[in-house]
Amino acid sequence: MNLENPPTVCVLGFGMAGRPIARGLAGAGAAKVHVWKRAPWRPEHLDASAHPAILMTQSMEEALDGSDFVLSLVTPESALDTARSASSFVQDAVYLDLNTTTPDTKKEIGRVIEAGGGQPVDGAICDPAEVYGHEVVTLISGPEARRLSESMARYGMQLQVLSERVGDASALKVVRSVFTKGLMMTFLEAIEAARRCGLVEEMLESIAGTVEGLPLRDLALSLAGTSLIVAERRAQEMEDVVSTLESLGVDSRISAASLEKFRWLQGFDFHEELGGVPPESVEAMLHALEKIFDSSPKPGT
Ligand SMILES: NC(=O)c1ccc[n+]([C@@H]2O[C@H](COP(=O)([O-])OP(=O)(O)OC[C@H]3O[C@@H](n4cnc5c(N)ncnc54)[C@H](OP(=O)(O)O)[C@@H]3O)[C@@H](O)[C@H]2O)c1
Repeated sequence: MNLENPPTVCVLGFGMAGRPIARGLAGAGAAKVHVWKRAPWRPEHLDASAHPAILMTQSMEEALDGSDFVLSLVTPESALDTARSASSFVQDAVYLDLNTTTPDTKKEIGRVIEAGGGQPVDGAICDPAEVYGHEVVTLISGPEARRLSESMARYGMQLQVLSERVGDASALKVVRSVFTKGLMMTFLEAIEAARRCGLVEEMLESIAGTVEGLPLRDLALSLAGTSLIVAERRAQEMEDVVSTLESLGVDSRISAASLEKFRWLQGFDFHEELGGVPPESVEAMLHALEKIFDSSPKPGT
């Protein structure tokens, strides 16, 4: 593996992410960019690969031959099989898997690549690659993550190192999604309910007053922390919320799930553990969660 001189890069997958990333790296000075795709090349791909440094390869073996740095950009479902096929030819290249898969799949991909002699790095793309190309902000983790990040920064890549453990980048993406995807559906349900009441603008303004008044860390601590000790009261409030949405004919699945989770929280002794006072720091909250949840049966058991 040579990341010090202009590297030979291999891009597996030539879709919405693979195309702009391959083009960007070729334009930024990579020695060669070998591109591979599963289905045969079609005439329209010639435009996307029109750069003297780009080589459209006919097989995975040809694509990986002499490559220092491999980027896997296929599909989440085919990421592991692609790694298995690549492992026979990867040699000692750094293999950055950028497919959106679970942390466990990334760890398995890591084992497969290591068994083939390669150096696995887990990656999670944070913005649309179609927009930012090879400069898209990407979280990475793995033993070679730091060296990869420093070497490829010369070519404009923004690889932000999270840790030395394969799986951490994907795990962060998963836990972020708990928040971001949950918020998306919460907004949708709230906006639809407000639309039925003719109060959309008023509701948005009222929520803005709540969320814009505090830095995010403080807001997270306040909302989640107080819920630990007043779960019973919030469960009662959510019962009214769900019945009101039902009477309005609004889909209430997010609110119903919140109600269920508040009821579940009531079963733990956070009030006692925290002395009736919400945790004042993230550390205090983690301590309480560890003490109560880790010694309790998992939900549904
Ligand atoms: N686009 C983004 O900004 C973005 C952001 C975050 C993560 N990602 C991840 O990056 C990967 C690529 O995303 P994309 O947006 O480029 O997707 P895409 O446009 O759908 O392209 C997918 C590529 O994977 C290939 N492919 C499909 N099935 C395959 C299989 N069974 N074996 C091998 N290759 C296969 C396709 O090749 P054929 O043409 O030969 O079928 C195509 O080149 C995905 O795993 C996605 O989770 C993308």
